[in-house]
Amino acid sequence: MAATGSAAGPRVERLVTSGTFSLDGGTWDVDNNVWLVGDDREVLVIDAAHDADAIAAAVGDRRVVAVVCTHAHDDHIDAAPALADRTGAPILLHPADTELWKRTHPDRAPDGELADGQRLSVAGTELTVLHTPGHCHGAVSLYAPDLGTVFTGDTLFQGGPGATGRTFSDFPTIVESIRTKLLTLPGETVARTGHGDATTIGAEAPHLDEWIARGH
Ligand SMILES: [Fe+2]
Repeated sequence: MAATGSAAGPRVERLVTSGTFSLDGGTWDVDNNVWLVGDDREVLVIDAAHDADAIAAAVGDRRVVAVVCTHAHDDHIDAAPALADRTGAPILLHPADTELWKRTHPDRAPDGELADGQRLSVAGTELTVLHTPGHCHGAVSLYAPDLGTVFTGDTLFQGGPGATGRTFSDFPTIVESIRTKLLTLPGETVARTGHGDATTIGAEAPHLDEWIARGH
């Protein structure tokens, strides 16, 4: 293939998909953010939620380097096997979320493991895996310093921590993850979340004590 004179550098694209989240006997309607990090040639998909067709359409003819799961709640992984099958990309999950994964996909294991400090490369840039448990045991965030952003899954939202009221969750653990792994990033870092609008580390950091006091 001929080289293009002005290949666009790595960038972030957002796709919102809709479906349900089920756990502990309840089911809720949810909209999820699916993040594509890459360029015109290859992308990494963060959280293949709900709609493999829509994600594949957003990917287009680009190579999918990996399907990365921020955690294994069903709304974040329900389309991962279908997307992996049609793209040939490996599914990567932190092994501490294996039990949760099996509840949704008992017959299809992830293809690889995520670990704290691991680096994922795509389109000439890198994302560092930060193990940020609390929302569930295997929750991770992905820090992309070149892009000035961190993908926080359901660990940190605009306005506070992710939910910790259900099975496999723990509030003191998520607070410790946020305090030590996320609020230590540069304040201008954009936090791109698993649901809803983005925020910045600097906008959230002053509120840690309020969250601890209120207990969620
Ligand atoms: Fe979640």
